[in-house]
Amino acid sequence: MNTLEYGLNICILGAGAIGSLWACYLNNAGRTVSLWTRGSESSLSLSLDDQPAILFPCNQESQLANADLLIVTVKAWQVQSAFKPILSQLKADCSILFSHNGMGAVETILPQMSEHPVFFATTTHGALRKNQQQVLHTGQGQTIIGPLNDKAEVELGSLVQAFNLALPPAHADSNIYQALWNKIAINCCINPLTALRDCRNGELAAKDTLEIIETLCSEISAVITAEGFSCNNAELFARTKQVIEATSKNFSSMHQDIHHNRPTEINYITGYLLERARAHNIDTPMNKNLFEQIKQKEAQNDH
Ligand SMILES: NC(=O)c1ccc[n+]([C@@H]2O[C@H](COP(=O)([O-])OP(=O)(O)OC[C@H]3O[C@@H](n4cnc5c(N)ncnc54)[C@H](OP(=O)(O)O)[C@@H]3O)[C@@H](O)[C@H]2O)c1
Repeated sequence: MNTLEYGLNICILGAGAIGSLWACYLNNAGRTVSLWTRGSESSLSLSLDDQPAILFPCNQESQLANADLLIVTVKAWQVQSAFKPILSQLKADCSILFSHNGMGAVETILPQMSEHPVFFATTTHGALRKNQQQVLHTGQGQTIIGPLNDKAEVELGSLVQAFNLALPPAHADSNIYQALWNKIAINCCINPLTALRDCRNGELAAKDTLEIIETLCSEISAVITAEGFSCNNAELFARTKQVIEATSKNFSSMHQDIHHNRPTEINYITGYLLERARAHNIDTPMNKNLFEQIKQKEAQNDH
């Protein structure tokens, strides 16, 4: 498959905020994009910011079967239930790109995708699905894409180029798990605390809260190091403070999920960290405490 051919036909599973954002940008870059949703509609009209609406084919089995690339942009806890039913409908050389917060949602199903090049993308772009017809690009960011299996190594460059043409900047990172740990480490510090305190990221800069974050960082860096990836306690603390300052006006995704009575991605953020900590017999009491408090909030939201 050469660069020009790559990803001509793209299907996006999960037409939420990020899925819709990429659908519009990839369409604008000349790709043929279709959507796969939970519903049965055969087309969906979407506009990006104030641009004219684009009419996307939707839930069409022929589009799914012809896809060169499937992008999975459901939330971490939705990945398996959304993806498993459509895997058998993909052609053998269809690339699969997962993108969600956290870790642990894809690893267990990776062996079932051994025929396909499989990638992961982590993005700092911000998107908001304002309503059924409009997606807003709320924050400029960057996207890092890396391979999750050997077949993906070969095609990494052309996939990154396709994203760079559509919504730059996109970077290739063949050590994607390091990039994911870097992100999860900061999410473990910011997301649960902002959700529990019902505050914007910037409010975590108070002295007593920074002391808690420093403890979180030392637990997190011990786990990441035991996993064989690089993480320095002091550097993580400094980086977390930078992110708190740079995103001071933002509400974290976990804050928004709790605020809107939705399930959070805690199982794939702090929950994944705790699972790996248990595997290495590392004590992580501060992270465990935040995890349990978020689970309590989620349980209260259920009622
Ligand atoms: N939004 C951002 O700015 C942003 C930035 C960086 C990373 N992320 C991460 O990207 C991921 C997606 O976030 P998001 O904000 O785009 O979430 P979202 O708006 O909730 O989008 C998820 C979409 O997946 C759909 N979906 C769920 N189960 C499905 C199924 N079985 N079949 C088909 N579609 C299904 C949902 O449909 P329903 O509406 O029917 O449930 C929804 O449209 C999350 O992990 C998030 O943390 C988001």
